[in-house]
Amino acid sequence: MEYLVKSGSPEKQRVGCVVVGVFDRRKLTQQGRALDFAADGLLSSILRRGDLDGKLGDTAVLHNVEELLCDRVLLVGCGKEREFNERAFEKACAAAFRQLYALGGIDAAFYLTEQNVRGRDDFTWQVKSALLTVEDCIYRFDDCRGAGFEAPKHKLTRLVFQVPRRSDLRAAERGVTEGRATAAGIKRAKDLGNTPANICTPIYLAERAEELARSHGKLTSKALDENDMTQLGMGALLGVSRGSRQPARLIIMEYNGGAKNQKPTVLVGKGVTFDSGGISIKPGAAMDEMKYDMGGAASVFGAIEAAAEMDLEQNVVGVIAATENLPDGDAYKPGDILTSMSGQTIEILNTDAEGRLALADALTYVEHNYDPDAVVDMATLTGATLVALGSQAAALYGNNSPLRRALRDAGEAAGDRAWPMPLWEEYQEQLDSNFADMANVGGKLAGSVTAACFLHRFARKLRWAHLDIAGVAWKSGKEKGATGRPVGLLTQYLIDHTHDET
Ligand code: BES
Ligand code: MN
Ligand code: ZN
Repeated sequence: MEYLVKSGSPEKQRVGCVVVGVFDRRKLTQQGRALDFAADGLLSSILRRGDLDGKLGDTAVLHNVEELLCDRVLLVGCGKEREFNERAFEKACAAAFRQLYALGGIDAAFYLTEQNVRGRDDFTWQVKSALLTVEDCIYRFDDCRGAGFEAPKHKLTRLVFQVPRRSDLRAAERGVTEGRATAAGIKRAKDLGNTPANICTPIYLAERAEELARSHGKLTSKALDENDMTQLGMGALLGVSRGSRQPARLIIMEYNGGAKNQKPTVLVGKGVTFDSGGISIKPGAAMDEMKYDMGGAASVFGAIEAAAEMDLEQNVVGVIAATENLPDGDAYKPGDILTSMSGQTIEILNTDAEGRLALADALTYVEHNYDPDAVVDMATLTGATLVALGSQAAALYGNNSPLRRALRDAGEAAGDRAWPMPLWEEYQEQLDSNFADMANVGGKLAGSVTAACFLHRFARKLRWAHLDIAGVAWKSGKEKGATGRPVGLLTQYLIDHTHDET
């Protein structure tokens, strides 16, 4: 899709469709200007006849409206004006776009971006959010369809986001730039998450990192193999990988957009390409969904790609612990004791708590090799997070409150929420072991918290945060698939962090 921004009134648009919003108070709005073209009579008869009542997400199409140069007008219900907040705006955009896709035009002028969104009268946000909503509607994963498959065809190829004044154009352009880059990152994360585990292996991820590095001048990539890991003493990550015939990789991407001496933000991702649970095997129902247990890794890819696409003046490092968790004659077992790269030993009580093991060594690798400004890890770590927060928010933990605050704010701005959870020392004793420095599980209670506490033992020296994304990275049900979260949050964090410094 081609995206443009323009200012100018609807009457003059020679396009397939002009899209305008209608609040349910029966008032057409456009920054307070009445829409001249939609002669009051016409609109009120539409409302009176019940073709549209302004309910959020309702649409109505008008053809050949007099004095207009466009072919059609698409009216979109925006709900109550007082309740037109960020989420309502996105819903209206999605409804408008779906209807546009169903119509035949090749282009449209999108006046919804002229509307006042409560608490967000900023056109960068509005355009970016509209663009991301559109891209989310367009997304499909058809890479694995058979030879006879034909994707549905759509004519729409160009969207113009309208802003009221010429002086708003700059902010809107920025929305397009940031939106396009973020959309590319989100698409990347969705594609990786949706790719099945027989294709998306640790080596596949390492190859995708290589490929991404080749396409961006400021990006490099390398991967450690199992020999390298043995040399470094990564006994925790290697323990998980034993049961799989797919060799593990520790993938490292570096995006150098900032000054040489600028401390990097390090993003660490859980990249378990399939999680069967290992010897502590999971029940069969919905086990297919465990192909997305590399959702953390996918979000690292997405955020780095977005940073590179918008040429962000910032140094960002991505570290991905890529492995597969399977049962096997050689697999690690309950009762085994592993020695992590940090030297701390871990008694395995459940081989299904594998993500924290892989991440522990990745965090130690970061501590030994970088001097980061901040480290944020992303992991589909616990089912308990799903129980606690559902799919509305990622669980947010960390040992530094400004960092937690910044991540939470970024999530709020991006509509990709994370919510703070406690990391109190009192929880740590749940990880006590009779035989090793710690156990890898902390019992039935507070499962999301004890997993975070486990990671914290490997991040004490870092300014660190952890996002448990088990609930947000994937949608179950009929429309199941990867969501691309939390790429929006991470990208917003990186953007905001760049502005803090300059
Ligand atoms: N990958 C899972 C967590 C998960 C579960 C993500 C459901 C998404 C949906 C993780 O490796 C896991 O199995 N965690 C265990 C931990 C337990 C053994 C302490 C869990 O949540 O059951
Ligand atoms: Mn598991
Ligand atoms: Zn897992």
